Amino acid sequence: MPEKKIIVVAGATGAQGGGLVRAILNDPNDGFAVRALTRDVNSEKARELASLGAEVVAADIGDEAALTKAYEGAYGAYCVTFFWSHFSPQRELAEASAMARAAKATGLKHVIWSTLEDTRKWVPLDDDRMPTLMGNYKVPHFDAKGEADEVFRQLGLPVTFLLTSFYWDNFIYFGSGPQKGPDGRLALTLPMGDKKLAGIAAEDIGKCAYGIFKAGAEYVGKTVGIAGEHATGAEIAAALSQSLGMEIGYNAVEPAVYRSFGFPGADDLGNMFQFKRDFNDYFSSVRDVALSRKLNPELQSLKDWLDRNAGKIPLG
Ligand SMILES: NC(=O)c1ccc[n+]([C@@H]2O[C@H](COP(=O)([O-])OP(=O)(O)OC[C@H]3O[C@@H](n4cnc5c(N)ncnc54)[C@H](OP(=O)(O)O)[C@@H]3O)[C@@H](O)[C@H]2O)c1
Repeated sequence: MPEKKIIVVAGATGAQGGGLVRAILNDPNDGFAVRALTRDVNSEKARELASLGAEVVAADIGDEAALTKAYEGAYGAYCVTFFWSHFSPQRELAEASAMARAAKATGLKHVIWSTLEDTRKWVPLDDDRMPTLMGNYKVPHFDAKGEADEVFRQLGLPVTFLLTSFYWDNFIYFGSGPQKGPDGRLALTLPMGDKKLAGIAAEDIGKCAYGIFKAGAEYVGKTVGIAGEHATGAEIAAALSQSLGMEIGYNAVEPAVYRSFGFPGADDLGNMFQFKRDFNDYFSSVRDVALSRKLNPELQSLKDWLDRNAGKIPLG
């Protein structure tokens, strides 16, 4: 039997990487095996991955030597950084660069870099349509990811740039779900006006990534944008109302109002939504639902996701 191609997965105990790990493990006859990276091989989640058949290896994505060791003998790697655990774009760039250099040193055949746009290409720092944040960024959690694309390119890696979308899971885990307004009514607050938000079930990101690895050379050197559906705030609110059996309004605030909400990252997210709203034709067009479904035939629509998850959404 030919040897299996090993995919090394960063964030294996998390949303994106976890979806990829499960996609590989659920398809045991397709020639791929998984090496799951974690900082703690003894955590409950890491042990669960091991019990499902993953090889579980300790590595911090900031530690190039540990990454190089983890990538040894592998075919490919899924690279993702974790902005919301430290709020540092500089750290994201350093960690992405460490993964890229380790991939180069070990001669990986296919790398997927989970990236986002460097919004400064659309809104330069001196453009005051939105405030500059952290001195050098417009959307900090996007910009450094986009900046890191060049590191992968310059090293001549066989890389696919994966442009992800807003996780609908944010309605459950990230405080983005419906909230009660002063009038006591539940509403979804998004500064998107009447523009469509590209969204996806977080689990589907890993499944799409698996489709990219399986297709191999077809997507090397390419940028692939994925989404499960594009929906306006009003359409999302209507879908939530339908699934939850109660009226959920749509509160289309201005980005400046969203930035002023004051929770950690509110300014970053306000700028992000403004970017998605003001450059909506571009942003939606590169996140292709049909291609996402080709890569992952089980791709969920918003309704599919709500049918499975609406009951978990906290209604505050
Ligand atoms: N939320 C959204 O809508 C959205 C949309 C698009 C893109 N994104 C991007 O997605 C990224 C996060 O991915 P995710 O949602 O899959 O993350 P996640 O679910 O928060 O998972 C992070 C996992 O990564 C591991 N980890 C954290 N720091 C690490 C480190 N230094 N070295 C090695 N492993 C580390 C942790 O595992 P261990 O504890 O086991 O080490 C954790 O389980 C962010 O950068 C965000 O900007 C988010």
